[in-house]
Amino acid sequence: MDKLIVEGGTPLRGRIKVSGAKNACLPILAAVLLSDDESIIRNVPDLKDVNTMLDILTGLGRKAVREKDVVRISGGIVDRPVAPYELVSTMRASICVLGPLLGRYHEAKVSFPGGCVIGPRPIDLHIKGLKALGTVIKVEEGYIIASAPKLTGTRIYLGGHFGSSVLATANTLMAAVLAEGDTVIEDAAGEPEVADLANMLAKMGARIEGIGTATIRVRGVKKLKGVDYTIISDRIEAGTFLIAAVLTDGKLFIEGASAEHNLALIDKLEECGGSVEEKQGGLEACRATRSIRPTHITTLPYPGFPTDLQAQMMSLSAMSDGISVITEKIYPERFIHVSELNRMGAEIMLEGASAIIKGVKRLSGAPVMASDLRASAALVLAGLVADGRTEISRIYHLDRGYEHIEEKLSAVGARVRREKEKKKSSQGKAPGKGV
Ligand code: EPU
Repeated sequence: MDKLIVEGGTPLRGRIKVSGAKNACLPILAAVLLSDDESIIRNVPDLKDVNTMLDILTGLGRKAVREKDVVRISGGIVDRPVAPYELVSTMRASICVLGPLLGRYHEAKVSFPGGCVIGPRPIDLHIKGLKALGTVIKVEEGYIIASAPKLTGTRIYLGGHFGSSVLATANTLMAAVLAEGDTVIEDAAGEPEVADLANMLAKMGARIEGIGTATIRVRGVKKLKGVDYTIISDRIEAGTFLIAAVLTDGKLFIEGASAEHNLALIDKLEECGGSVEEKQGGLEACRATRSIRPTHITTLPYPGFPTDLQAQMMSLSAMSDGISVITEKIYPERFIHVSELNRMGAEIMLEGASAIIKGVKRLSGAPVMASDLRASAALVLAGLVADGRTEISRIYHLDRGYEHIEEKLSAVGARVRREKEKKKSSQGKAPGKGV
């Protein structure tokens, strides 16, 4: 197992290129199953979660060959539409093969994903969307067994307790494109990753209107063709580096970062004393004020502030000159980073689904660990400004969502390196589930 050693105190300066968006890539790779033709997907990040999805495709009989960031997936027909426990248990997003398998083969058997460290992760909305299209679903021996002799278009309200759902929208959309007749998905997720999936499906021959809005209209077609598609840049990776520039009082040009996809973050960074400027091909961020200012943030579905940048903003707020409040409205328990940041000298108190952060003048390096991808990214950011050395354990979480993070950070001046972790009995626990 690897760990990351970060020596704090260097402002980051230079240029970082953002990779393809993990959360667009996962459903897009699953959507390839909707056609029997070969497909080529470009700008595919080299991440553990992406490789898990490629393993699922391989298990379903579709060969995947990667050359740098281009993945070629062979054509073919799936004999056994099964996503096994061994793979689904390592990555929750495996659930997004359900929609395409149902759409194309009218049956699917996918291991039930269960919860994870960021809190309960129900799948009732996935089931609601697929059932509305005519699917019969039962759960047996830990598997979702779904069958739909015929999928028929209909109007579906997909809003849930916490608003829209990214992957439930993706699953319903992927089943609807091959259903008979018209489907309208109301309170659909408008995240750029869902829009990217819809654009890819349209390129395969699907008929979709309202892409990127809360009402997606689909006119079912009989067949889809293979696709050559380039995935959008990762707005969460880009956002993490924008925060790093402001936090370390450096200056970074983030190549491939989109202002449109990061409006809520840019607004909050500017409130905190950062400056983010749109330039040809990306965004440039630096600090505009001497100290970091406190802020109030509530995470919300897009275009609200993303839950996937909540932890990283907490590291920034931890060093502000006042009191910040961050409220989590997507995953009310996603605060695994709080106790670790406090171990580094932060002063953060939890009050229900809100964190009250009293800014401190300095953080101090410490051995830390987190069993969630974004929480781990927050610890890397904190390590970059902490005095001394921070050792972040269990960085396989980071490897699920950040491509070559230590290389990218080292290239802009960070003192960060990867080391093999010595085996300790307390670290023998099972790895946390992917997102
Ligand atoms: N929800 C339900 N029922 C459902 C599905 C979701 O109540 O059937 C709830 C969730 O519990 C949550 C809210 O709806 O409170 C939103 O969850 P959503 O379904 O949108 O999350 P997801 O699709 O499972 C994706 C990303 C997450 C990201 C969320 C929210 C992927 C692979 N994962 O998950 O990414 O946090 O959307 O934007 O796309 C990450 O990358 O670190 C990560 C966790």
